[in-house]
Amino acid sequence: MRLALLRVEAVRSALSLELGREIEFFDRVASTQDRARELAAAGAAGAIVVADEQTAGRGTKGRSWLAPKGTSLLASWLFRPAPAEPALFVVLSGVAVARALEHFGAPHASVKWPNDVEIDAKKVAGALAHATTDAEGGSLVLGIGVNVHQRQSDFPDALRVTATSLALVAPPVDRLSLLAALTRELDRVALPSERAAALDEWRRRATLLGREVEVVRDGRPPLHGVARDIADDGALLVGPERVVAGAVRPLR
Ligand code: BTN
Repeated sequence: MRLALLRVEAVRSALSLELGREIEFFDRVASTQDRARELAAAGAAGAIVVADEQTAGRGTKGRSWLAPKGTSLLASWLFRPAPAEPALFVVLSGVAVARALEHFGAPHASVKWPNDVEIDAKKVAGALAHATTDAEGGSLVLGIGVNVHQRQSDFPDALRVTATSLALVAPPVDRLSLLAALTRELDRVALPSERAAALDEWRRRATLLGREVEVVRDGRPPLHGVARDIADDGALLVGPERVVAGAVRPLR
């Protein structure tokens, strides 16, 4: 038992060294995002918070993010200083996720603005972000949930037709290896020199570009138009408008 524990600790510290930042692991935590935001508020530099289970996982738009214990990669990355153009980086994190999944044999992964990653038109991963600004470049906490081991029956009824997991589409994947690969891909899209290539790749992976969409935004009437492109700052260009936040769905 002690030896097993030692091995786990050895793997953790090797991973932490390899990825070049502190990693906090929790068997169970309310939300890795909340914990990483606490670290950010306390002035920590780069860190990664990972959990096997979250009791109050957060999704976008105030929704919950639910994942049975042991099924998912649940992690939040603290970047300090924040990557340049943080809003664009958050959109491009979808490319990082797609690349990481494909390293492990997943079929082609698509991105859906702003932060969803889909396989076979079903959501396999989502992200949310929280940025702060200050004179030293601020911080960014990026939380990502990847469905890894779920079987179809692990998803709530309402999600069964819209969600998928790696287990349903790819060979078995070890979550620590996925964490390492995803961290490397996030670091890659954070590099200003990689941005143009990642943005082009985002366009190639995007399912909604060129299609008629509806955008639902808080406190505003729905917007209908063709999703024309993504701007250099990560905004979605729909008809004549720039959309910086909202839910987008194809109309046909
Ligand atoms: C979405 O709604 O698509 C975004 C989901 C983000 C979930 C991840 S899981 C790890 C991190 N901790 C949280 O509480 N949420 C994010």
